[in-house]
Amino acid sequence: MVLLARKLIKLLPKWPRRRYNIFMGTNTKEEWLWMLRAWITRRSYKDLSVIEDYERKFAQICGVKHAISFGAGRMALYVILEALGIGEGDEVIIPAFTCVVVANAILYTGAKPIYVDIELQSFNIDATKIEAAITSRTKALYAQHTFGIACNVDALRDIGKRHRLPIIEDAAHALGAEYHGKPVGSLTEVAFFSSDHSKVINTYVGGMVVTNKDALALRLRKIQMGIPFMNQKSMRRLVRSFLINYICYLPSILWIGQVIHILLTHLDLLFLFKDDLKTKKEDVSEYPCRLSSLQAQIGLSQLNNLSHNLEHRRKITEYLEKKIRWNQLNLDEINQSTWLRYSFLVKDRDQFEKKFSWRFDLGVWFTTVVGGREEGFEEIGYYPGSCPVAEYVAQHIVNFPTHLKVPLGIIQKEIDYYHDWIGENILRH
Ligand SMILES: Cc1ncc(COP(=O)(O)O)c(C=O)c1O
Repeated sequence: MVLLARKLIKLLPKWPRRRYNIFMGTNTKEEWLWMLRAWITRRSYKDLSVIEDYERKFAQICGVKHAISFGAGRMALYVILEALGIGEGDEVIIPAFTCVVVANAILYTGAKPIYVDIELQSFNIDATKIEAAITSRTKALYAQHTFGIACNVDALRDIGKRHRLPIIEDAAHALGAEYHGKPVGSLTEVAFFSSDHSKVINTYVGGMVVTNKDALALRLRKIQMGIPFMNQKSMRRLVRSFLINYICYLPSILWIGQVIHILLTHLDLLFLFKDDLKTKKEDVSEYPCRLSSLQAQIGLSQLNNLSHNLEHRRKITEYLEKKIRWNQLNLDEINQSTWLRYSFLVKDRDQFEKKFSWRFDLGVWFTTVVGGREEGFEEIGYYPGSCPVAEYVAQHIVNFPTHLKVPLGIIQKEIDYYHDWIGENILRH
């Protein structure tokens, strides 16, 4: 109760003015109205033809033969591991700057995540450190395209070939990104995406596996057909949460919407996966499950708007790159990534967040090497001190939102006003 009161008091000085958060940034009023009608009419959420349409369109965008949907990105990863036959006693090499649900999905199969440090500038896995982590138990490598910037897939492929290891692409942040002119998702044997409410496209929660391998696709499809949809109660809760979150996170309402959202979350009225700290699959319910046709319908609409969505993110990034120069990229290079967020390191993150809090709720990500877990890292196989670059990045990273609800003009105004201050506070690599 004291914690809740403190959270609310902190929000009070944000009097009515447009503020920008990181969630629900890509959804349209039409999608909201469609979801509202679906909720009122109790529309079926198991319409296979809509799900097939969404999968077909997704595969087409990724330039692959097969797309198979699941209830979340983490579940998509879990079924990939299962389809690859990875389990008890095996090891999967992942970057030490990821979301805790990645490590959890590996643990749920009985395998072990092995963490490799990251590059200071790109926040992607440091490929030069992968081979030292390979053992006879290693069964897969992991190409995570953090914040939508493709990692060094060439180097991973080389290592994979030499050690006969498959590579799983984690494209959770990277729908629409390219690498050497090829769509992310088509670069290795198998990839997965997330469409939760903080990602490039938003179906509230959602995941998709893509692959060109027919036999693997068949195994994945078999798994998909054998698992249930969410139960009716969870589904109603999910749709209701989509409707509420959309309103609460509107920039003009955020100042009060955030307070309402915290209260509703506290009262346990919103849909949330509660698996962040669960290391055993038997403690998690409805995992894995299928993606509903209601989400697939929103997903289709989101895919139809993907070019506009990415163009906006890239425009914002172009401006931020000009002013902040974290990545030092030219326009062509900028246009290859999705820029889920524009991320860089600063000396004092608290001060930075405070400076911008009147305009942005920066929702900093990932603030530990496995975002979503703050302590007890040994439980998920991470030993503090073992990946110093990732730990340093997690302490100093900040990210600006880039989604469609953040106007370029606001970014320009804020960055220009605080330009010198940012310059003094940035940590150059
Ligand atoms: C890098 C990365 N991979 C995988 C996931 C899992 O996606 P989902 O939340 O859809 O399960 C996330 C979630 O934020 C992520 O950041």
